[in-house]
Amino acid sequence: MLTRRTHTCGSLRESDIGADVVVQGWASAVRDRGGVSFVVLRDRHGTVQITADERSPDAAREAMKGVRLEYVVQVRGEVVARYRPNADMATGAVEIIAREVEILSGTRPMPFRLDGHADAHEETRLRHRYLDLRRPELQHNLVVRHQVMLAARKALAELDFLEIETPILTRATPEGARDYLVPSRVHPGWWYALPQSPQIFKQILMVAGMDRYMQICRCFRDEDLRVDRQPEFTQIDLEVSFATQDLILELSESLIRAVWQAVLGREIGPIGRMPYAEAIARFGLDAPDLRFGMELVDLGPALAESTFPPVRSALDAGGIIRGFVLKGGATGNSRKVLDAWTAFVRNYGMGGLLWGKVAADKISGPLGKAIPEREAFLAAAGAEDGDLVLVGAGTPGTVNPGMGRLRVHVAKEKDLIPEDTFAFTWIVDFPLFERTDEGALTSVHHPFTAPMPEHVDWLGTDKVDDILSDAYDLVCNGLEMGGGSIRIHREDTQNRIFDSLGIEPAEAQDRFGWLLDALAHGAPPHGGIAFGLDRMVMLLTGAASIRDVIAFPKTTSAQCLMSGAPSGVPVADLDELHVANTKQS
Ligand code: AMO
Repeated sequence: MLTRRTHTCGSLRESDIGADVVVQGWASAVRDRGGVSFVVLRDRHGTVQITADERSPDAAREAMKGVRLEYVVQVRGEVVARYRPNADMATGAVEIIAREVEILSGTRPMPFRLDGHADAHEETRLRHRYLDLRRPELQHNLVVRHQVMLAARKALAELDFLEIETPILTRATPEGARDYLVPSRVHPGWWYALPQSPQIFKQILMVAGMDRYMQICRCFRDEDLRVDRQPEFTQIDLEVSFATQDLILELSESLIRAVWQAVLGREIGPIGRMPYAEAIARFGLDAPDLRFGMELVDLGPALAESTFPPVRSALDAGGIIRGFVLKGGATGNSRKVLDAWTAFVRNYGMGGLLWGKVAADKISGPLGKAIPEREAFLAAAGAEDGDLVLVGAGTPGTVNPGMGRLRVHVAKEKDLIPEDTFAFTWIVDFPLFERTDEGALTSVHHPFTAPMPEHVDWLGTDKVDDILSDAYDLVCNGLEMGGGSIRIHREDTQNRIFDSLGIEPAEAQDRFGWLLDALAHGAPPHGGIAFGLDRMVMLLTGAASIRDVIAFPKTTSAQCLMSGAPSGVPVADLDELHVANTKQS
């Protein structure tokens, strides 16, 4: 009979010796040794050893023999000192001598083992996520996730933020990814879009006088997935009236400090700011990993006279030459390693990788052929005997991301990244616009991002490409953890931005009219930011994949293997929605 538990499995200590207790959980280890049987019972709080021996009634000894791995078991018994304490278990000083054992539930054969490091294929684990989630490591990640949400709500409530929910069935929002669409049954041919973020609603809440808004909200983006990207993810979303950039950064730092303190008990000091241009110049990326050096250097001047074809053609085409130095890397990096790194940078569109091993008398490898003047080159690169220099030549659009990512890849491979460190930085002074391949202007963030006040007058002039935005990203350990901006609150400025983006007034009215109308009815100056909750939890737990911090994640092909979503639906259901399939997987 199900009774109420007196203790969780992880809670028993020496001070409980002599107590009569009831525990319930899953059998995570089962052993039978010559008439003495042991079961390690696990719940989300920990594990405890149950022993049935001559001190136990016959019925309990018999029942223990029937327990198999992952059976759900209830045990009543007495806590006793363990003959041989187990220092690896929090409860290892004690065990429970079984008096009553009841199997509450059995299991079909397990598709994979849960103990130790789960070596089962991720697909199998995702299909049986309820088993995967029994693993302490994943349970810990979900506990941390809960703690982050709790700490965030508490910190923001203390700063006078209100949590306000915004719709899930809504109109397209402007974050730049593809929308997930939901057909309307009652309005044939019309569609809702799931929000890519609450961006427009939160701005409208400022017009509505809500002053400081926050929400822990789900966002939906149909984009290519990676280890730090899910189609459905969670933001800690903020918006603040009468805000300057300094105020948003200050409020954000209070939030981050509170979260790191609550989860890890760690102090996060003031977070520095780095202009976007500096991040690209030093690290090739706008989300730089500052935990280690190996910064990129401009080698264009040192190779200006080079006749080596890849270098010459890059320079003649107005491209860039940038590289970094792996100290002591002249030894220990075989041709195979260098070929793999070359293949790595090709993924970013680079033609290849120029490498050179520096020795006292020569620089071997392709780079050796490219260098007109050895000493000047070594001084520019910051390299000396025994080092490996890795260099990329080509367009900024390929060399910066290629070499920037290679820097991180090599550091990981060579174990150069200190563990248990959080290197935060704000990235500021982003360009407002970037150019598409066709040369048209698009927003780097979204079209409601304010230009720096001193650059507003450059709209519509030939300085338009130089306009900086009042936007900011928070980066930690090379991961973009949050991003936001001060918004445009004036109709005239907003219209000039649409004009620069080639968005006609009628189109602007059609897509964003509901925001523009609101902004025209007494909009306070305002700004905000959104943090990726999933990424925050990845950082706090050290999880390598975003899937490890979400209870029911999707695969990289946006499927839920457990529920089988997405799936076909009966034609009758589609008819009712006035939708027809033109193609089915
Ligand atoms: P942005 O698009 O930069 O800004 O998103 C904010 C943060 O959300 C996280 N993030 C993601 N996490 C997991 N999977 C994804 N697919 C994904 N996409 C984004 C990142 C990112 O920094 N409305 C603006 C915010 C604002 O301007 O206030 C917005 O959504 O950590």
